[in-house]
Amino acid sequence: MTAATASAKNALLTWPRPAGPDPAGQPLLEFRQVSKIYGTGTAAMRALDGVDLRISPGEFVAVMGPSGSGKSTAMNILGCLDTPSAGSYLFRGVAVETLSHDQRARLRRHYLGFVFQGFNLLNRTSALENVELPLIYRRAPRTERHARARAALAQVGLTGWEGHTPGELSGGQQQRVAIARAIVTEPSLLLADEPTGNLDTARSHEVMDLLVGLNRDQGITVLMVTHEAEMAAYAHRIIHFRDGRVADDGRAGGSV
Ligand SMILES: Nc1ncnc2c1ncn2[C@@H]1O[C@H](COP(=O)(O)OP(=O)(O)O)[C@@H](O)[C@H]1O
Ligand SMILES: [Mg+2]
Repeated sequence: MTAATASAKNALLTWPRPAGPDPAGQPLLEFRQVSKIYGTGTAAMRALDGVDLRISPGEFVAVMGPSGSGKSTAMNILGCLDTPSAGSYLFRGVAVETLSHDQRARLRRHYLGFVFQGFNLLNRTSALENVELPLIYRRAPRTERHARARAALAQVGLTGWEGHTPGELSGGQQQRVAIARAIVTEPSLLLADEPTGNLDTARSHEVMDLLVGLNRDQGITVLMVTHEAEMAAYAHRIIHFRDGRVADDGRAGGSV
């Protein structure tokens, strides 16, 4: 690694993440001709095929596209859970594929939050303890963990529910616990894969209002996969995937 690359890493990816908004004027994240190939030889499957993507700090982006078009593959790479077969993924200007396994884990812990369709909460564990979990990985002291987890639950409207386990909460409440868990570390980027996929319409709109508020009031960049046009309409921008490529990248309601 050159000294210049090392200092860019130091400046752009410090742990913990520096307080405040991400620097404006440069993309928060960028795909440069990212391809992902699963398998080899005749069984090779090109899940992503030369994808270019730029997302600025503070954007709210929806990702749509048919099943098998590469949405989850892109989200896995964006979430530093997987690396491209070719091309480059830059986060705050740092090429993620040049980071060590350990550095990628730190990037995830300090800069990224995840929300899944299935909530992925620990079942026999209170809402408060579920939300504290990412802070335990970061070895935050107990009193700080409690205070921050309570504040995050308050932000998602769950004050008074701290001691309840997921089984005692509705689906909408469980997803709000999951969102509190994702934001308790004050991430730059929230990655949400079908966050309303298991919710009825009213609960889906509540979750979307919450995501809009976090984006608008706290400057968290949101990237959300959805197959519902009604939910995608909350975003500033909708990216359509097709056959591992970006088929369309435009403003929400662009045809209006
Ligand atoms: N781990 C894997 N091994 C082999 N093929 C995969 C793997 N993950 C995804 N694929 C293939 O890559 C393509 C894109 O999948 P995916 O990113 O999950 O699409 P989407 O999320 O848009 O439904 C699909 O054809 C899928 O079968
Ligand atoms: Mg998928």
